[in-house]
Amino acid sequence: MRSIIDILDLSVSEIDELISTAKDIIKDHKKYEAVCSGKKLATLFFEPSTRTRMSFEAAMYELGGNVISMASAASSSSAKGESVADTAKVVSCYADIIVMRHPKEGAAYVAAENADVPVINAGDGGHCHPTQTLADLLTIELEKNRLSDMTIGLCGDLKFGRTVHSLINAMSRYENVRFCLISPDELKLPDYVVKDVLEKKNIEFWSTSDLEDAIPKLDILYMTRVQKERFFNEEDYLRLKDSYILTPDKLASAKPDLSVMHPLPRVNEISTAVDKDPRACYFKQVLNGKYMRMALILKLLKEAGQICM
Ligand code: NCD
Repeated sequence: MRSIIDILDLSVSEIDELISTAKDIIKDHKKYEAVCSGKKLATLFFEPSTRTRMSFEAAMYELGGNVISMASAASSSSAKGESVADTAKVVSCYADIIVMRHPKEGAAYVAAENADVPVINAGDGGHCHPTQTLADLLTIELEKNRLSDMTIGLCGDLKFGRTVHSLINAMSRYENVRFCLISPDELKLPDYVVKDVLEKKNIEFWSTSDLEDAIPKLDILYMTRVQKERFFNEEDYLRLKDSYILTPDKLASAKPDLSVMHPLPRVNEISTAVDKDPRACYFKQVLNGKYMRMALILKLLKEAGQICM
């Protein structure tokens, strides 16, 4: 059974295919409105979510399918001590595809090993978040008309930010992509990404704590929230939370075709005054996420023999 736990579970050509399905959905929405009729998607969210959960739900409804979900982790049997493995087995009896978010790294993998239906990782702790990356890739493709030849600045919490880890993995597979890693010392990219991805693949990157110095060099600026829920002590969070705040002033030295991205939710990292700037792409990312999730649901249900298109 094919599950998507990591963005690298999808090949570059499969990502191309998903992007072209998403573009076709945007163009011809009607063609897709009943393709998942009679199918059910289960959302199992053990951590807060607005976009990821609602975009999966909207995606399934727009494909003509249905959605079942648990109201919250606290009201599910996990509060009684049920394991992720058992929950996945149980929910496989009710749904044709499962979307799961969990605070523990590797939880989606355990679910996929035990489920009888495809599992999509909607974020596992500070590890990875492949479907946010699908949203990001469609956004980059639509904004830049390419996924190669660019300098990407990643700014904020590079240590715990799972969207950053998945985006680096994905973009490292395209030609001539460089990364500028902008973070305070304490929130630097983990070694397993620096060593196993960037260094191993010989990808150009540099680290800095100075956002203003980096901005003029960037084609994409990917801002992130400091991940409060992953901190062990509140003092550290309070000290680091406002490390970077993007304002119109700071954008004055940026390229005219810079794309400012953010997986959202934002706390303080981007001043709302930036929203009016044509370079702000973060609300476009939200919509693109729904289209890519529609494309992914279609792909996995088709491969599982659940639908034919
Ligand atoms: C991100 C996440 O959950 O990792 N949110 C999202 O899914 N768009 C980013 C975040 O919470 O900061």
